[in-house]
Amino acid sequence: TVYADKLTASKAVAKRIADIIKTKTTKGEMAVLGLATGVTPIAVYDELIRLHKEEHLSFKNVITFNLDEYYPMDATAAQSYNVFMNQHLFSHVDIDQHNVHIPDGSLGLDDIAGFCLAYEQKISALGGLDLQILGIGRTGHIGFNEPGSAPNSGTRLVSLDELTRNDAAHDFGGKANVPSKAITMGIGTIFKAREIILMAWGTKKAPILKKAVEGEISAEVPATYLQLSDHVEFIVDEAAASDL
Ligand code: GLP
Repeated sequence: TVYADKLTASKAVAKRIADIIKTKTTKGEMAVLGLATGVTPIAVYDELIRLHKEEHLSFKNVITFNLDEYYPMDATAAQSYNVFMNQHLFSHVDIDQHNVHIPDGSLGLDDIAGFCLAYEQKISALGGLDLQILGIGRTGHIGFNEPGSAPNSGTRLVSLDELTRNDAAHDFGGKANVPSKAITMGIGTIFKAREIILMAWGTKKAPILKKAVEGEISAEVPATYLQLSDHVEFIVDEAAASDL
């Protein structure tokens, strides 16, 4: 779906999320949401905060699982996705902190595999993700599933692509400070969500969006795996769609 601009598109995505939350709350159930970081979802989170403040949208019945976190990364570090999520969403709404899940970048190497398995099991025990939102990196990564990721991959420790580290350099005050690894939900984890929305805004994303939507399905561009799903929607603005 192509919207004229990112704000209109972000509001539409926020409305989808709000509708899931309201439907689940009415039924007395929890909404289980897969969330993303990066610049892309910020306007969606802004709109959710507005809906909370102005239209009484409550997050009391919401459980969240974030896609990824840098490794190593202290949860309180400025560049951590934990801080990002608190800044851009969680500290502004009435979500119970116990219902927030973000991969732990401060674990010792030996503890990562167990943590990742438990992350998957927690999602499954809740009946799976109702919705997973995604941005897209210029390597075609979703979450931090870089080129080479397998379609059935689960939550795991991965190495970041050089292009991804270049793109993050600004946030870290230089590429040398960008962690070389991350913990990410897998392609298989993402695929299990009942609904998937990939968002992309701006001309900078146009070339990779074209590959993701129209390119050959390949591990070289992990977002192309989404072509195999019948429950995915690409929500983009005209600028990102300009090469399609
Ligand atoms: C990071 C995140 C991805 C995100 C991507 C694009 O690599 N791990 O989940 O989609 O960046 O970021 P942005 O939305 O800032 O363009």
